[in-house]
Amino acid sequence: MMPLDGTELWLVTSHDLVRRMLADPRWSSTVDGGLSPEQPLHMTQPEPGMFLSMDAPEHGRYRRMLTAHFTVQRMNRLRPRIEQIVAERLDAMERLPHPVDLVAEFALPVPSLVICELLGMPYEDRAEFQEAARTGVDMTASPEQSDAAMARLGAHLAKLIAAKREEPDDALIGELIREGALTDGELVHISILLLLAGHETTANMLGLGTLLLLHHPDQLALVREGAPGAADELLRYLSIVDLVMFRGAKEDLTLGGREIRAGEFGLASLSAANRDPALCEDPDRLDVTRPKTAHVALGFGPHQCLGQNLARLELEIALQALLRRFPGLRAAVPLDEVPVRENAAIHGLHSLPVTW
Ligand code: HEM
Repeated sequence: MMPLDGTELWLVTSHDLVRRMLADPRWSSTVDGGLSPEQPLHMTQPEPGMFLSMDAPEHGRYRRMLTAHFTVQRMNRLRPRIEQIVAERLDAMERLPHPVDLVAEFALPVPSLVICELLGMPYEDRAEFQEAARTGVDMTASPEQSDAAMARLGAHLAKLIAAKREEPDDALIGELIREGALTDGELVHISILLLLAGHETTANMLGLGTLLLLHHPDQLALVREGAPGAADELLRYLSIVDLVMFRGAKEDLTLGGREIRAGEFGLASLSAANRDPALCEDPDRLDVTRPKTAHVALGFGPHQCLGQNLARLELEIALQALLRRFPGLRAAVPLDEVPVRENAAIHGLHSLPVTW
């Protein structure tokens, strides 16, 4: 039962069933709400371009248009720029008096700068989308507050897109304009989706990931040395995206021997699936050297994270550089005093005071 509004739903927790559910077209992604007491789970009509909440065939149309822009090769072209952004943030951190808030000075700005760079959006606009993102995943925000934050961001992006129509640049929005297949309305919602999905998640992974490593010094040393599977193991272990994986049954179906009726809702618990002993040995242990797993921290099936190559690249570059720059990095407060985002649908930290 959803704690806030009492809606009943199916909680899917095994690795096998989570993957089956997420790959099954009978489960719809057009589900909204459930994150605030005033907005119970319901099926919705997504805005044009908001393909995260769409099903086939509309979802596939957008996904095909964007996939080519997010390949490993395309993301690797961003590597030098990401390295530069990370180095600049570390330089700035080094100049500050201790303790420094790692979230405000590093974990949040790095992915924000990267996604702005990728989209071709001025970084000065970040306050707008950071606020919209925070409100969007805040389970205590009212639907009016979330809608207002999104509307402000949408209006801002509409202006930016109009300017780019006049003079398209080489960044993603400019390229999509040049490809010519999308309306301004679609471009606004694609940009909102990429901005929010692209920085909130990575920022939380960097904050929480650093805290986790500080409490596992042996693993921290391996990450600093460049353990190749570290990003995926941190993604699996932390499973920060968990409470937003809602689906609605479009027809009667059976899953794991249970009869599910059309119109009922399900929540795929990525964290439970990623700690399923069927997935890997000793799943509650953090082991950045473990063989590659089929974890679902980046989702599974048609909606599997579009930005996964970028996410891995950012995590790898940012964590290694941080740990190499500050070999004596440590938390400046005890673990139970680190403010955890308890009302957010994506796990993360409000702040992480560090010293070195
Ligand atoms: C570390 C960070 C990240 C995590 C843990 C993460 C996780 C996820 C998950 C679980 C989904 C599936 C949602 C669903 O099935 O309903 C998803 C989808 C998505 N992600 Fe990520 N993500 C991360 C980073 C990024 C980045 C950096 C970007 C963009 C640049 C991005 C863009 C997207 C988009 C656009 C979708 C929707 C895909 C679709 O509906 O086809 N994500 N992500």
